[in-house]
Amino acid sequence: MFTKTLLSAFLALGLGTAGFAEVEEPEIEDIAFSFEGVFGKFEEEQLQRGLQVYTDVCAACHGLNLVYYRNLGDEGGPAMAEDQVKAYAAQFETFDPELDDFRPAIPSDNFFDSGMETAPDLSMMAKARKGFRGPYGLAFNPLFRGVGGPEYIAALLSSYTGEEKEEAGAILYENTAFPGGWIGMPPPLSDELVEFEPAHKNDVESMSEDVAAFLMWTAEPKLMARKKAGLVAVLFLSFLAVMLYLTNKKIWAKAKRKD
Ligand code: HEC
Repeated sequence: MFTKTLLSAFLALGLGTAGFAEVEEPEIEDIAFSFEGVFGKFEEEQLQRGLQVYTDVCAACHGLNLVYYRNLGDEGGPAMAEDQVKAYAAQFETFDPELDDFRPAIPSDNFFDSGMETAPDLSMMAKARKGFRGPYGLAFNPLFRGVGGPEYIAALLSSYTGEEKEEAGAILYENTAFPGGWIGMPPPLSDELVEFEPAHKNDVESMSEDVAAFLMWTAEPKLMARKKAGLVAVLFLSFLAVMLYLTNKKIWAKAKRKD
């Protein structure tokens, strides 16, 4: 009786998941980002290009409230020089409650949100979205290629079909990477929209990857430090395991020889 209930429960579960799998999920392709893998690192130049794409394009609508201008100078991040960070911040105004007025931003301010209400803040977006769904294969996948947050963002920016429609007074744009297929964000990028200094490839795909990498850094600025600490911990634990094994053998050696 009990086994029968259990069996039908399993069956129901199986059918349930099969039902989910039938909903069409966009297929997101893996991108070999520099920061993936055990030894992965953010690439300074890519983060700086991504910052520029964000500044020139995305900032018109999206905030980045959890990021401070001074973070742009962080090691392991865009690593901009102090005077560059100051100059970058000074381009923006920020509201100072003490002055009760606007003033030019300084490195200790956070990115000022002058954006659009319906556009979500992008600070944590790369960790809030998944690109890879379904069977992940081995549990190692997240370690080597992540769960695909930056891949999703890069795909989203370069998967517009050019179709649009009006729904309840809002214009929706067809996008094959967006779940549901229609998004309220007009295509933000077009080839050669942003000019990099020094010059770098600036087609839609390449800019999408740069800004996706930048948003991964804003979501997880300590990624590299975390990987390093993890690696040291694994090495130390492996060493400890070997020592314990050898100690154990030595302690029991005498007792075992007796019989
Ligand atoms: C004209 C305004 C505008 C610009 C410019 C813009 N966005 Fe958006 N974005 C939106 C709006 C509005 C939404 C919400 C759309 C929705 O939920 O249908 C959105 C949503 C998003 C999302 C979330 C999608 C999801 O899964 O919910 C991401 C990621 C995103 N934008 C990234 C970017 C990036 C990166 C740029 C710069 C290259 C950018 N956006 C430029 C208006 C904009």
